[in-house]
Amino acid sequence: MGFKEKYGRYALVTGASAGIGEAFARLLAKRGFDLILVARREEKLDLIAEELRRKHGIEIMVIPMDLTLEDSADELFRKVGEFDVGLLVNNAGFGYYGKFVKQAPERFSDMIKLNILTFTLLTRKFADRFIKKGRGGIILVSSLAAFQPTPGMALYGATKGFELLLGEALAEEIKGKNVDITVLCPSATLTEFQRVAGGVPHDGMTAEFVADNALNCLGRKRIAIPGLWNKILGKANRFLPRNVVTWITARALGHYLPDE
Ligand SMILES: NC(=O)c1ccc[n+]([C@@H]2O[C@H](COP(=O)([O-])OP(=O)(O)OC[C@H]3O[C@@H](n4cnc5c(N)ncnc54)[C@H](OP(=O)(O)O)[C@@H]3O)[C@@H](O)[C@H]2O)c1
Repeated sequence: MGFKEKYGRYALVTGASAGIGEAFARLLAKRGFDLILVARREEKLDLIAEELRRKHGIEIMVIPMDLTLEDSADELFRKVGEFDVGLLVNNAGFGYYGKFVKQAPERFSDMIKLNILTFTLLTRKFADRFIKKGRGGIILVSSLAAFQPTPGMALYGATKGFELLLGEALAEEIKGKNVDITVLCPSATLTEFQRVAGGVPHDGMTAEFVADNALNCLGRKRIAIPGLWNKILGKANRFLPRNVVTWITARALGHYLPDE
């Protein structure tokens, strides 16, 4: 059975105007899903939608929305109420490099609202809807940063740890309800992330490779870690003392930090 037959007609992707979310939109369009694309930049969403409609003959609804706003999860859920959404890709998020005590509290608030609050409420609403319908799929985009403390992006790593724990717990709670959940935990990926987070550009995986890995894991694995070396890293830290893991991570992330 194809993905669309298994889950339902529409896939909703948050953060679809760039990076990993855009890659999800492109891959899901190829698989024949109709799409609901959400992000703040309407013109970017329109361009992507136009191209995918032309290439794949699918229906696409664009919803420009700032997901840090209060009630945005409720509003988005209301807007898509009529549609047979079968797959949620809860992907919108951003990072923020720097020393915790020097960072701007307003960006902390936005990060908590986007990466935690709206992320949680959307997951709750769609999981409930999918359970009632008896089918559905959810991809939660976390990070390899979720597996250990991340000095140099302390709050970001904490939000990603939250997302991973939430996803794993929910997957266990709803086992047997025919709703698949995969938490995607990529390492560095070539997107707009570095620019937005104020980091130094560096190498990484392509967004397409990362999104494709998650789609291949959906229904088979609770956690998707693209790349063999990243899989090893994700597991290795269990065998080392936490202080050592934190020290190593601080050194690794140091390369991505802008000079102070
Ligand atoms: N790139 C990496 O190295 C990496 C590694 C691990 C995990 N991740 C995770 O992957 C996810 C996607 O990040 P990315 O790398 O693809 O970054 P990206 O290229 O910066 O894309 C982020 C997406 O989120 C949207 N977004 C940001 N703030 C938003 C808001 N307030 N309301 C609605 N949409 C918003 C952006 O669209 P607008 O600006 O148009 O709103 C954009 O579509 C994030 O959750 C990130 O934590 C990334």
